[in-house]
Amino acid sequence: MSKMPPVCDYEGSDYRTRFWENQGRDYEDQVERVALRKLMPDYGSTLIDIGAGFGRLADEYAGYDRVVLFDYSSSLLREAHERLGNDPRFVLVSGNWYEMPFVDGLFQTLVQVRTIHHAANVPGLFAELNRIARINGSYILEFANKRNLKSIGRYLLKKQDWSPFDQEPVEFVELNFDFHPTYIREQLVEHGFTPQRTLASSHFRIPFLKKNVPTDLLVKLDKAIQSTGRLWTLTPQTFILSENPKHGKISTPDHFFACPKCKTPIFEKDERLNCKKCGTVWKKEDGVYIFK
Ligand SMILES: C[S@@+](CC[C@H](N)C(=O)[O-])C[C@H]1O[C@@H](n2cnc3c(N)ncnc32)[C@H](O)[C@@H]1O
Repeated sequence: MSKMPPVCDYEGSDYRTRFWENQGRDYEDQVERVALRKLMPDYGSTLIDIGAGFGRLADEYAGYDRVVLFDYSSSLLREAHERLGNDPRFVLVSGNWYEMPFVDGLFQTLVQVRTIHHAANVPGLFAELNRIARINGSYILEFANKRNLKSIGRYLLKKQDWSPFDQEPVEFVELNFDFHPTYIREQLVEHGFTPQRTLASSHFRIPFLKKNVPTDLLVKLDKAIQSTGRLWTLTPQTFILSENPKHGKISTPDHFFACPKCKTPIFEKDERLNCKKCGTVWKKEDGVYIFK
């Protein structure tokens, strides 16, 4: 890729405490876990959470031998490291999703929740994900759906100038995009993934309901109707499971990291990773591999 797209940089951010902890988002957290459990294979060898942040969903990956929490922000990954301790199953890696520091075909399962709205270049992201996905691997993607009931209502009442029916992504705030389901499906197919199941989630993300109806009940109701996503997706959140039937490669078991610049496999020695081809030296600090 010639020019790197801009990155929404969370370095040093208080995302965990400002957005999640005691912020009244138990409903959102729980319906996302429900959708993830429905779509994600329970067991496997390698899983990567792309844009994992502070590792909010890390406990969902108990059935996997090796779990990479990947994020641009090394400070959020250090928070993940503090939460997870020295559990050897987890590998914390800081880098840019347009230049993944992994060998081809490494991951059996890829998960991406609440992050693609920061992708200014979806084709570039999907091309990299397809490169690191294993043959027949699974990719579970959550995205913010621009064609939701609220945005349709606002558009019809002329309170919003962009059309929820237009298939191009809309950047409603700098580096924050909403996507049309058709655009996401087309991009997945173009980059070698085969979309399988779609779930609509967060039907009840309405302050009045969240305040007056028990969270457990809202989550149960959401769970019961998530599969309507197969017919229509009018909720603000959509989950889509894709498979990677033929384009992926199978990595050799002794190769894991690759130089993000030239893609040459590299090995760790004394917490340093030297690329023999291009000479770049990458490092590990405070339990986090740094590839940026
Ligand atoms: C809203 S947070 C979501 C975190 C986590 N997935 C969750 O649901 O709790 C978005 C995350 O995407 C990461 N991110 C944004 N652009 C990125 C990029 N180009 N490469 C890797 N991570 C990126 C940010 O650092 C941030 O942690």
